[in-house]
Amino acid sequence: MALELTICKTENPKPLPTDESKLGFGRVFSDHMFVMDWDKDVGWHDAKIVPYGNLSISPASTVLHYGAEIFEGLKAYRNVNGQIVLFRPDQNFARMNRSADRMGLPELPVDFVLDALKQLVRLDADWVPHSEGTSMYVRPFTFGDDEHLGVHGAAHARFLIILSPSGSYYPNGMAPVDIMIEDEDVRAVRGGTGEAKCGGNYGASIRAGIRAEEKGYAQVLWLDGVERRYIEEVGAMNIMFKINGKICTPMLNGSILPGITRKSILEWLRANGEEPEERRISVDELIEAAENGTLEEAWGCGTAAVVSPV
Ligand code: PLP
Ligand code: COI
Repeated sequence: MALELTICKTENPKPLPTDESKLGFGRVFSDHMFVMDWDKDVGWHDAKIVPYGNLSISPASTVLHYGAEIFEGLKAYRNVNGQIVLFRPDQNFARMNRSADRMGLPELPVDFVLDALKQLVRLDADWVPHSEGTSMYVRPFTFGDDEHLGVHGAAHARFLIILSPSGSYYPNGMAPVDIMIEDEDVRAVRGGTGEAKCGGNYGASIRAGIRAEEKGYAQVLWLDGVERRYIEEVGAMNIMFKINGKICTPMLNGSILPGITRKSILEWLRANGEEPEERRISVDELIEAAENGTLEEAWGCGTAAVVSPV
């Protein structure tokens, strides 16, 4: 059955945010959202753009009990010509399908959802903010909603895209963020779900995040889950350093999220004659470099976090 998109526009548009400097991150939502259902026997169906609003799900839904959820994050920006552009959305949907495979959730028909996303952003174009440092954060997500308490692969799922006009992720804007090296909890191990973008990874990170915030840090820097020695990534961004004139970042090892911003920065650096290294970086090496003055720069990179100095 061919998928068709139906559009039901809101009859009660909300007022647009008046002060873009107060947007914050992920708190304001546009007028519409995209919704699509999946059923094991039928596949994806009932694709529609509808007014943004609450969902109704069974209290027995798989997502509520076993974390059957994956998500993505990308942004729509106004470029210098005033056009609205998406940054590498194909990469997000490709990664989402890898996450789906890892979590036993259905893969997306990428061309169809890309087109649906463009139609949604066009419909809510007035919600894309204009000020420097703002953008429309796009959050696609899939969750299993089977009414069945057994632990099993989803037989029913829903995919949605919601839009959130946003400012900077960190409350202090582009001021350098303080990051705490976490040496108790671990985020992921190889063979686990670290390289998938699933809600559970973030749920498991919250205790460390709370502890870091209590000590005045914005987020934690995760170490590898086995030796607790090698640097992996930060709560919501990949990490890069400049040590002794050379840019380096932890290599993708199966437990780190393969960030699209990370990949784009590495591609851009290589296209500009730099030779960034993707390798294992131990916390001892980092501390030594900080102490002997060869640690020149540290920054995180991610869609929400953009390029944030550390
Ligand atoms: N690492 C984690 C844990 C993240 O949540 C994110 C954000 O998406 C990133 C890295 C950066 O990925 P991307 O550049 O694709 O946004
Ligand atoms: C993103 O940068 O898109 C993220 O998903 C990070 C965070 C908001 C969880």
